[in-house]
Amino acid sequence: MIVLGIETSCDETAAAVVEDAAEPARRIRANVVLSQLDEHAPHGGVVPEIAARAHLQHLDGLVARAMREAGIGFGDLDGVAATGGPGLIGGVIVGVMTAKAIAAAVGKPFLAINHLEAHALTARLTDDLPFPHLLLLVSGGHCQLVAVEGVGRYRRYGTTVDDAVGEAFDKVAKLIGLPYPGGPAVEAAARSGDPKRLAFPRPMKGRPGADFSFSGLKTAVRHQVASLPDPLPQRDRDDVAASFQQAVAEVLADRARHAMARFTAEHGAAATLVVAGGVAANRHLRAVLTDAARREGFGFAAPPPRLCTDNAAMIAWTGIERLRLGLVDTLDFAPRPRWPLEEMRA
Ligand code: KG4
Ligand code: ZN
Repeated sequence: MIVLGIETSCDETAAAVVEDAAEPARRIRANVVLSQLDEHAPHGGVVPEIAARAHLQHLDGLVARAMREAGIGFGDLDGVAATGGPGLIGGVIVGVMTAKAIAAAVGKPFLAINHLEAHALTARLTDDLPFPHLLLLVSGGHCQLVAVEGVGRYRRYGTTVDDAVGEAFDKVAKLIGLPYPGGPAVEAAARSGDPKRLAFPRPMKGRPGADFSFSGLKTAVRHQVASLPDPLPQRDRDDVAASFQQAVAEVLADRARHAMARFTAEHGAAATLVVAGGVAANRHLRAVLTDAARREGFGFAAPPPRLCTDNAAMIAWTGIERLRLGLVDTLDFAPRPRWPLEEMRA
């Protein structure tokens, strides 16, 4: 089974071809990503209108390149998948329309993919993970703990009551003068900083349940920065980054511990904790979560960093998972700016 995947929900334009076969098993035959970073960086964040226009400009070329690298023609595809939401609607429309056009032209099924489901199922592509498993989804727009029981079957244990964790990284980066996107920049600065120097709060830590909150932490960082010299010396900047990252790590580990206990109670056995989404690219967070999982008797899995941040291989793979179950979509599918995981139906 070979599926073309298209991702255009935020600021990455991406196309990929993924194959699932008995021999040589599953493989990513092409995975091209064009980051629009340079176009958005001057604005300090993603500008939806700029993103939509850039997707429109580059997507055709990226699809052609992915098909060329995969060494196949459109007629060899078994399906065409595109992110149908949630995301910035202008971009989602560009990807969905392109996928529908290809599907209609070659007479192959069209699959509208939920971007969150794609992050959730990536570990099945990379680690061949069975259902059920526990997912910590940490990205620029989301922070959730979810029991993944099957394709289209998700039970949410907790979510953020305010900011997403990637958003917190991006805002803290801005406060300490690091470029957008903040995550990788904060992680790099934190490597030379002292994580114990500044006593930032650990919001929600120790509370029952598995919800998150990051706005208080962000505010604490703002106050701390205001009390430090301006411009911020590199030493201070690195210490703020490291202390912030450590606070996030402890909160994620604490919330994941609560979710693992609930998962074990509901499913009868420890399983695997999967961390996915852009923030899962962070090596310190991965290390702390690996340790938290081990202590609860859980395995740990995280896709390689380039498959954690937005990409189209995860869209193509989710297309394969759904196509296998006959879950195809019709050409009148309407792109969805909001599309919670719990609204998925297998
Ligand atoms: O999944 P993603 O690529 O896009 C969304 O669907 O949101 O996630 C992007 C987010 C951004 O907020 C970015 O700062 C964050 O992931 N991120 C990181 C790292 N790499 C990306 N956060 C922390 N550490 C990283 N290494
Ligand atoms: Zn994403």
